[in-house]
Amino acid sequence: MSQPTSSRSNLAEALSGWPPPVLDPHGPFSNTVTSLTWVLIALVTLIFALVCAALWVALYGSDTLRARLGGEGVVKWFGLVVPAGVLFLLLAWGLTLAAGLTTIQGDELRMRVSGNIYWWRVSYLDAAGKELHADANELHIPVGRPVVIDMVSEDVIHSFWVPKLGGKMDMIPGRTNRLKLQADRAGVYGGQCAEFCGGAHSLMGFVVVAHEPEDWQRWNAARLARQQPQPAPAAAPVDDEVLRGSRLFGEAGCAACHRIAGTSAQGLSGPDLTHIGSRQSLGAGILPNHRGTLIGWIGDSQSIKPNNRMPAYRSLQAAELHALAAYMESLK
Ligand code: CUA
Repeated sequence: MSQPTSSRSNLAEALSGWPPPVLDPHGPFSNTVTSLTWVLIALVTLIFALVCAALWVALYGSDTLRARLGGEGVVKWFGLVVPAGVLFLLLAWGLTLAAGLTTIQGDELRMRVSGNIYWWRVSYLDAAGKELHADANELHIPVGRPVVIDMVSEDVIHSFWVPKLGGKMDMIPGRTNRLKLQADRAGVYGGQCAEFCGGAHSLMGFVVVAHEPEDWQRWNAARLARQQPQPAPAAAPVDDEVLRGSRLFGEAGCAACHRIAGTSAQGLSGPDLTHIGSRQSLGAGILPNHRGTLIGWIGDSQSIKPNNRMPAYRSLQAAELHALAAYMESLK
């Protein structure tokens, strides 16, 4: 996967443009939602036109027409029966569609995503629901295969939404909700927290990377292999700066919050950094991931994303920030 070269994050790229993502489905589950959206837009337009026509008759129509418009029949039918009928049919259809978005067939890829202030914990699960490997703020899925995601929250209510790939689902503390996603084409899809969860809510994004099935199998095998104990620092080839960075990672206390699989860093309150070097974005979807943004984020993430849980490390020298960033880049 090539690194982004644009100054904008992948999230910004993926969520902008025309048509808006919500009207540009790239999979069966988002298709369902888009169909419902178009039917609602058409129906609302029709009803608006009818109301405008009735208003015109009431203001400028002949006496006969106005008398008919004010008659009991019109009020009974268009004030009661038709609206109730339309709403009932829409509700029944909407519930049928929504059931299809959460029904489990059994052959789906299983994942769990949990909402945190203001980032996403991502776990890949086996059929029994056991975690195989973990990541943060980025989901990798195979094209053409449905993915069932268990949605949980570790603090407040968040809402998981990838408009091009599926519906929207709330993440509620103490509860597990489920949502299905599927991508019909390889690519990078933007996602966003869709429920106000605090000050940096609008900066709580993520990306979904859809791979061709064979590519995804290779990717998954590499991730599984990476779970084994690693010589420190985790990835080869090792240069001096990376080595210095891995030492600083321990000295600065980073491991208290962050986990790097196969090393002694096992903190769980912040995003998993095992694969941070291969991630497309930083800060939960808001920055492209490269040396400069890594240095900026580690040195003073508070000025980039106020009130996120990571303190600013203003005491670190430029050379130390470079070494830490080099170590992060080496973690593929
Ligand atoms: Cu999390 Cu809004």
